[in-house]
Amino acid sequence: MFKFRFRLSRLMPLLLALMLFGLMGCSDDDDGDSISSPISARERFELQPLGPIPYPPDNPPMQERISLGRFLFYDPILGGEFDASCATCHHPAFAFGDQRQLPVGVAGTGGLGPDRIPGNSSHTGDPVGLTPRNSPTIFNTAFNADETGEATYNGFFFWDGRVKSLEVQATKPITSRVEMRGDAYPGDDTQAGDDALDSVLARLRGIEEYVQRFAAAFPDENEQWQNGQRVHVVDSSTYGRAIASFERELVTRNSRYDRYVAGDDNALTGAELRGLELFHTKGKCAECHPGPMLSNFEFVVTGVQQEGPGKAVIPGDDCGREEHTMNPADRYAFRTPSLRNVELTPPYMHDGVLETLEQVVAFYNDGALPRHPEISNDELDELLPQPLGLTDSEMQDIVAFLKSLTDPGTQLSPFLTTVPDRVPSGLVPVLGLSAGPPPPGFPG
Ligand code: HEC
Ligand code: HEC
Repeated sequence: MFKFRFRLSRLMPLLLALMLFGLMGCSDDDDGDSISSPISARERFELQPLGPIPYPPDNPPMQERISLGRFLFYDPILGGEFDASCATCHHPAFAFGDQRQLPVGVAGTGGLGPDRIPGNSSHTGDPVGLTPRNSPTIFNTAFNADETGEATYNGFFFWDGRVKSLEVQATKPITSRVEMRGDAYPGDDTQAGDDALDSVLARLRGIEEYVQRFAAAFPDENEQWQNGQRVHVVDSSTYGRAIASFERELVTRNSRYDRYVAGDDNALTGAELRGLELFHTKGKCAECHPGPMLSNFEFVVTGVQQEGPGKAVIPGDDCGREEHTMNPADRYAFRTPSLRNVELTPPYMHDGVLETLEQVVAFYNDGALPRHPEISNDELDELLPQPLGLTDSEMQDIVAFLKSLTDPGTQLSPFLTTVPDRVPSGLVPVLGLSAGPPPPGFPG
């Protein structure tokens, strides 16, 4: 260590000369003044750290709720066919995403993430197929914003913002055929969806450990008296709040970018600083990806191409926000995603159609081409049709900056970032029945 320092200090004059030379080289072209600017990017762009976690009044942080939510998150008892859990598509090994273009939930085989292969329902034998949208990370969703752009416990969830709050979101995957329900219940997503939720809650009530854990996590509520005895009700509200409690703690504040924002001038490399500068200026990225979440959570038409099975409004297509509002004015508008940990969650966009960050930056640079054939220049967000004119090295700098947003939970307790050894149902955590022979009593 000492030796190294000594050598470094002897090299210092040379390094300084090289840096000066580099700066002079830069000042030949007109964007090169960033490094020499006396005021830091931190001050000029008013960069802010993530604030405290916003908690709903009825769901303050409590260890019992977080622990219960963690079990539920990894327990395939929530899956209609006992073979999919939340972590099938939001796994800590993939920064709480799945690193697939489109997820494979129920009936999948082959393992996790990119290894997973679509399969057939164990109930009907019918193929289940792919989930229509790319799986987002759960990290930092505690800070999803609402229409004000401010972080709130009632922020937008999903690419079309059809749900607000982690609590409500958690009830949805178990009702979706391709995600978790499978063909365990007859009917379409709406009817069978309600049945699925009721049935999953009934399953939880049938497992003594869950009943006790719900009682400990919600000690003062949801109690009823039956035959003179106090019993706790496992319902969609306590279920949703438990899962949300776990997810809300998955906050990462220790990326190189976070350290730079907190005042560490050496946290970012030269390329990352140049990328940060371009992100706020020539690249126009910060217009839509501002603030500590690197998103304003607005719904925007970027013209991303469509791949995969699509949603309901137009068969084979995904109309974005319109799928929820049914308003054609919202066609092809998707919620601007956070860019925290974006390096760890390829591929990109609502349908995972872009494989690398280089491709994403090139997509913006080129006036948003190639794009969805139904989206004309007039329909794109007004920031986008004009090519940005970024050079290759500027695009590389922006990619370098995006990678400075990486922190896979280095400051989080391993309790929050590892898969539990067991779950209360006795099923194999995460994969359930697809991982091997069922424990006694399953499937039931
Ligand atoms: C088959 C894969 C799959 C499973 C299983 C799954 N999800 Fe997801 N999750 C997704 C996809 C895909 C989306 C985006 C869907 C959309 O936008 O329409 C998503 C979105 C989310 C979001 C919204 C993130 C954001 O910023 O908008 C949260 C939170 C979430 N899932 C939590 C869960 C929980 C909790 C469970 C278990 C109860 C679960 N997921 C099960 C694939 C899955
Ligand atoms: C007009 C608003 C807007 C601008 C400007 C903008 N973005 Fe985006 N960005 C979005 C929206 C909306 C999406 C999601 C689009 C979709 O999936 O259909 C997105 C998606 C992304 C993604 C994919 C994230 C993921 O998890 O899939 C990255 C990376 C990204 N943008 C980076 C950038 C960079 C870098 C710039 C500047 C060169 C930029 N954005 C400029 C709105 C914008």
